[in-house]
Amino acid sequence: MAEHPAYPVGLRLTGRRVVVLGGGQVAQRRLPALIAAGADIHLVSPEATPSVEAMADAGELTWHRRPYAEGDLAEAWYALIATSDAEANAHASGEAERHRVWCVRSDDADQATAWTPATGTSEGVTIAVLTLNARGRDPRHTAAIRDAVVEGLRDGTLVAPHHRTRAAGVALVGGGPGDPDLITVRGRRLLAEADVVIADRLGPRDLLAELPPHVEVIDAAKIPYGRFMAQEAINNALIEHAKQGKAVVRLKGGDPYVFGRGMEELQALAEAGIACTVVPGISSSISVPGAAGIPVTHRGVAHEFTVVSGHVAPDDERSLVDWASLAKLTGTLVILMGVDKIGRIAETLVAHGKSPDTPVALVQEGTTAAQRRVDATLATVAETVRTREVKPPAVIVIGEVVDVGRQPSE
Ligand SMILES: C[S@@+](CC[C@H](N)C(=O)[O-])C[C@H]1O[C@@H](n2cnc3c(N)ncnc32)[C@H](O)[C@@H]1O
Repeated sequence: MAEHPAYPVGLRLTGRRVVVLGGGQVAQRRLPALIAAGADIHLVSPEATPSVEAMADAGELTWHRRPYAEGDLAEAWYALIATSDAEANAHASGEAERHRVWCVRSDDADQATAWTPATGTSEGVTIAVLTLNARGRDPRHTAAIRDAVVEGLRDGTLVAPHHRTRAAGVALVGGGPGDPDLITVRGRRLLAEADVVIADRLGPRDLLAELPPHVEVIDAAKIPYGRFMAQEAINNALIEHAKQGKAVVRLKGGDPYVFGRGMEELQALAEAGIACTVVPGISSSISVPGAAGIPVTHRGVAHEFTVVSGHVAPDDERSLVDWASLAKLTGTLVILMGVDKIGRIAETLVAHGKSPDTPVALVQEGTTAAQRRVDATLATVAETVRTREVKPPAVIVIGEVVDVGRQPSE
């Protein structure tokens, strides 16, 4: 018989009975998509992996703790046969055929009446890749094609124009600490779709070089602000470009809501009636210490970490930080924007009871090619910053975690 290609189709399984035979690794891999599709899943298996068991405990499927028995597939719309018993698989497959239930078999693709494609999602579509016919079946090849398409759409190297009118608006995108690989997939996609990008000095500047020539890139630090405050001028630039119907990305360092003034921009846009979406980012407060080998928590060492702005000195009347209370905490203190004031901060912490020997690490330009770590203690940090010429941007970590990952010789 001539071999015909498989016919691709999207099954709408919401509320429909799907029977899964076997609770091992295959079921574990396939079940999340069936759950996401809203199927009424019946798992028949004496055993299950802990993850599959957790899905049953969460009520995402009904688990019948027994081996397959004739009749299990009678009411099913779709079946996945994946037990470790080849005879039971063949038997169930025969039953599926008699009841006209489309059936995937993990042990014998030739005998199956359906194949699971390699799938991924991007931009609101599912990408599903199937081999043309059984002869050419190569699951690794289909998975590689799926990865190439999804990846290309996500990072903008594969451009699929939208034919719906795109809603103009602003995306506040957290760009992560600086390494261009540390932006989120969503952030990178929005960047690839932008007409205008307003970028901060911190963040993944290398990504700007990849943007196509028609994209207008504006350096937030260079927006002329005349009688406005700088922040107001940035808000106005966002509003003006969005009003011209452009897709605007406000690219910020780290996470937009960690000392990033993201909410101020969101509120200004809301007042102007402009749609805004916020994309979280990896904050430097955790990732920069991590990149330098410092965990902000460690079992038995620190049960809390506190992220503090060191922008104003402890005795400055504008300071909202209770340094006396922070000195009493046993966990980790992470200070952003603190290089200039670290001497006064260290003095204050020691004056309120923190040991002068408490380890301190300063991580400058973390996650970039210029990353540098300098170690000190609360007693020595002011002098160390001066002699070692530590410059912003740097994250300062204070606490015993600083020494956790260090080799004895360091
Ligand atoms: C205005 S705050 C913005 C923080 C940002 N929203 C975040 O979540 O990471 C800027 C401060 O973040 C820290 N910072 C940001 N990126 C950094 C990096 N790559 N290396 C070291 N410090 C960084 C520095 O303390 C810098 O002064």
